[in-house]
Amino acid sequence: MLCSAAEGIGDRGAGETAVERFHIITQGCQMNVRDSEAMAGLLVQLGYAPTDDPADADIILLNTCTVREGAEERAYGRLGELRALKRRRPGLILGVAGCLVQQERERVLERVPWLDLVFGVHNIHRLPELLAQARDGCVPVYEVWDRADRDRPLPALPALRSSAVRGFVNIIHGCNKFCTFCIVPYVRGRERSVPPDAVVAEVRQLAAQGCREVTLLGQNVDSYGHDLVPRCDLAHLLGRVHDVEGIVRIRFTTSHPRDMTRALIRAVAALPKACEHIHLPVQAGDDGILKRMHRAYTVAQYRATIDAIREAMPEASITTDIIVGFPGETDEAFERTLRLVEDVRFDAVNTAMYSPRTGTPAATYPDQVPDETKRRRLQSLNRMQERIAGELNQRLVGTVQEVLVEEAGRKGGVLGRTRTNKVVTLDGGSELIGRVLPVEIVQAGSWVLRGRAAAPVPA
Ligand code: SAM
Ligand code: SF4
Ligand code: F3S
Repeated sequence: MLCSAAEGIGDRGAGETAVERFHIITQGCQMNVRDSEAMAGLLVQLGYAPTDDPADADIILLNTCTVREGAEERAYGRLGELRALKRRRPGLILGVAGCLVQQERERVLERVPWLDLVFGVHNIHRLPELLAQARDGCVPVYEVWDRADRDRPLPALPALRSSAVRGFVNIIHGCNKFCTFCIVPYVRGRERSVPPDAVVAEVRQLAAQGCREVTLLGQNVDSYGHDLVPRCDLAHLLGRVHDVEGIVRIRFTTSHPRDMTRALIRAVAALPKACEHIHLPVQAGDDGILKRMHRAYTVAQYRATIDAIREAMPEASITTDIIVGFPGETDEAFERTLRLVEDVRFDAVNTAMYSPRTGTPAATYPDQVPDETKRRRLQSLNRMQERIAGELNQRLVGTVQEVLVEEAGRKGGVLGRTRTNKVVTLDGGSELIGRVLPVEIVQAGSWVLRGRAAAPVPA
C-alpha cells in the first residue's frame, strides 16, 4: 500500500476561503440513492459542503452498482474519467463505494490504483474515520465489511436529502431470496428489518423538514418484520407511517410476488395515503424459466395476484421488471412472456437482457442465450410495452389527476407525479413545489403526461 502526504485539499489559491466541497455520483437503484444521502449527511456533519460540479470538489465519491455487467462497466468507465481530475488536482480525494466494491473487493484497487478510498455498503457509517485516514495521507484506505455487524443495531445516520418533497426510508436491508440470476444477496447480505419505531422516527423527521411523500424501501419489502421481535409486517408498518402528520403520500418498493399477500393488498387499499401503484417484478412469463430463476411462483399465481390488486384498487397502476434471454429461454418461452405483458397491460416495464454475474448459479448454466437473440427479444418486448403504455396513458387525457409537484422541470415549468406514479409536466413556478394539485391531463406519451392545473391555484 502506498503512503504519501496528502496535498492541498481545498487549495483554491490565495484569497479564497476554503470551504471544502464534496460531490457524490450515484449509480444503481434507490438503495444506493438512499445510501448516498447518508454519505452526504455524514460529510455535511463534518463541515463539507455539497457541489454539483465534480471539477470543484475536494472529495468525489462514486456509489456503484453491479447488478449487470453494463453497470460494472459504467462504474469503471466513470472512474477512468475521474482520473483526469485527479491528475489536475492531486489533493483530490477519490473514493468508491457501493455494490461493485462488495463484489470486486481488492480487485477494484488493482484495476483503479489511483483511488484514495474504498468502502462497502455495510460500513458507510465509518466514512468519517476512513476519510480522516485518507486525509492523513496514507492512501489508499480500504475497508469493506463482509456483512453488517449483527450484534449492533444499524446506526441511524444523518442524511442530506436529494429531494425536499419525496423522502426514501430504508425499512429492510439485504435479501434472502437468492434468485439464481441476482447478485444482490451476495453484496447486500441477509434481510435485516429496521424496527418500526426507527422507521416512524425517520418519517416524522422528514415530515418536520417539509417532506410530503415517503417511499419505504427494500429489495423485498413484503417480507418486512419477520426477523423482528416481536414480529411485525408491512401492513402494520404502513398503518403506523400513515399516522404521521404532514405526510400525504406513502409508497413502497420493491414487492415480491411470492410474498404479496391479500391482507397487504387490502391494507394498501384501505389506507388513503397509500398510493395506488404496485411495482411487482415478474421477471418472466414462463413457468419453466421462473422455476430456474428460483422465483417460487407460477405465472397463474402472479396473474391471480394482479387480479386481486385490480379488484381492490381498480385504478392502480402496475409496473414490473422483466429479464429477457435467461439461460434456457426458448422462443416459445419468450412468447409466453409477451403474452403475459399483452394480457396484464403493465403501466411500465423495466426490461433488461440477462447478464451473467460471477458467483450466481445461473452464470454457470450451460444453455446461455446468444446476445443477438437477447437483443432481438428486448427490442420486441420494448416495442410492445411502449405501445401499451401509450394506450394506457392516452386514456387519461381529459381526466383530472391529483399531482404532487416535486421539482422544476428541465425545460421550464414544473414536474410532479400522479398517485399512480406517472410523471406529469405542467406550467408553473417553484412556488408550486410540494403542493398537491388537481391537474387535467391534456397530452400523453408513453413515458410522460402533460397537464394543466384544473382549478385556479390559490396563492
Ligand atoms: N428485489 C427485486 C425483485 O425481486 O425483483 C429486484 C431487485 S434487482 C436490484 C432489480 C432488477 O434487476 C430485477 O428485478 C431484475 O429484473 C434485474 N436484474 C437483476 N439481476 C440481473 C441480471 N443478472 N441480469 C439482468 N437483469 C438483472
Ligand atoms: Fe435479487 Fe431476487 Fe432478492 Fe430481488 S428478490 S433482490 S431479484 S435475489
Ligand atoms: Fe445495483 Fe446494488 Fe441496487 S447491485 S441495483 S445498487 S442493490
